[in-house]
Amino acid sequence: MSTRYASSPRSLEEVDITSPDAFSANGYPYPHWAYLREHAPVYWYERPNIAPFWAITRYHDIQRISRDPKTFSNNADITIRADPEESNTVSSTQTHHLLQMDPPEHAEYRSLVNRRFTPGGLRILEDRIDEISAGIVDRVAAELVDEVSGRGQAEFVADVAARLPLAAICELLGVPRRDWDDIHQWTNETIGASDPEFQQGRTRRETARAGTQALFMYFMQLAEQKRREPADDLMTTLVQAELHGEPLNAVDLLSYAFILILGGNETTRNATSGGLLALIEHPEQMERLRADRALLESAVEEILRWTTPIVHFGRLVTEDTEIGGQPIAAGEMVMMWYPSGNRDEEVFDRPDQFDVGRDPNEHIAFGGFGEHFCLGANLARLELRSIFHHVLERLDDIQLAGDVERLRSGFVGGIKHLPVSFTVR
Ligand code: HEM
Repeated sequence: MSTRYASSPRSLEEVDITSPDAFSANGYPYPHWAYLREHAPVYWYERPNIAPFWAITRYHDIQRISRDPKTFSNNADITIRADPEESNTVSSTQTHHLLQMDPPEHAEYRSLVNRRFTPGGLRILEDRIDEISAGIVDRVAAELVDEVSGRGQAEFVADVAARLPLAAICELLGVPRRDWDDIHQWTNETIGASDPEFQQGRTRRETARAGTQALFMYFMQLAEQKRREPADDLMTTLVQAELHGEPLNAVDLLSYAFILILGGNETTRNATSGGLLALIEHPEQMERLRADRALLESAVEEILRWTTPIVHFGRLVTEDTEIGGQPIAAGEMVMMWYPSGNRDEEVFDRPDQFDVGRDPNEHIAFGGFGEHFCLGANLARLELRSIFHHVLERLDDIQLAGDVERLRSGFVGGIKHLPVSFTVR
């Protein structure tokens, strides 16, 4: 994600890493994170209207916390509510899902579906994902081009980036094609509840509730159907799963489907749109990748490092400890800032350069390599490689064709609108 911050803060008091308005106006606060990494890598962040927390901005500290679930628990509100208007669906209290669990319960639940997310388990999806990507880009190339000028115009988020992640999860869960549009609408209401586009006269809360309830009702029916007619899909895996000899109860089963839909959607969408923006802003890297497609794999890793779509997750400290010499008390929260870790100058060579051939690139966009490391990481990589392959294959001379609009959120770093123009190859 690029940033529009012109200068660094001059003191710790000036540091602002949580205001949703600043995220939508300026993009990620990289100069503020850099200031913290240098002056106070474990910083007690106290600001009006936010529960205070320790801001963790260095890569190795994030990794250490992620790998020690005994001292740093997920059993808490692990995202920051910077203002009442910001959507905060991941830590909703009516659900019981992986991101809210600690060992040993967490590993038991995760093992129910883990196999489907390994490279081997995803192999059956590979061709379908490629087919869907090709279809998405073919439509753009066929329908959105002005016949006179020969130039195409697209809103890259709606026309491309948002489409594949949802389709991929629907395929995985076994949602039939005819229902994808409904799922799309309900997830938009759930995640984008602050957006007037999805509210249609309702409040944010009403919009989110309507979306969540519709999704839950739908998955309940889908589960029923898969019980009657089992298929080779994730919903069937979930309805057949047993923990300690018992099937999953309704809340656990629905929460699973829910976290997969929510976890896999906006993140991959924003890596896609943010990745294209990075390539447009670094034309020499775009050319390099076009000239040498063997770089696609490392380019996707660099896009993940560069965009880091999840901005933070937190942990509750369960016993007195210290990080980097700073004492931390039981009951306090630590918040890990993944985009900051991904620009840590102690770990990455030239961290502020976008380099599609970067190697090594052990980024933490999917988390700090602990218990909760992103379940969908292999799937996300598969999707990103496939969509960028088809974009590069079909679309040429891609340029910005209007203002980039960013999401008003300090949790998911998002691009709402990315107007582009292009020619067709
Ligand atoms: C570019 C895309 C993605 C990014 C940047 C991303 C990022 C993350 C991060 C940072 C975490 C927390 C890691 C931690 O606490 O250590 C996470 C967890 C998770 N992600 Fe992703 N994710 C992406 C795509 C996906 C996809 C496609 C799916 C599902 C199909 C998914 C499902 C999940 C789930 C279920 C968890 C919770 C895992 C657990 O608690 O054990 N994610 N993801």
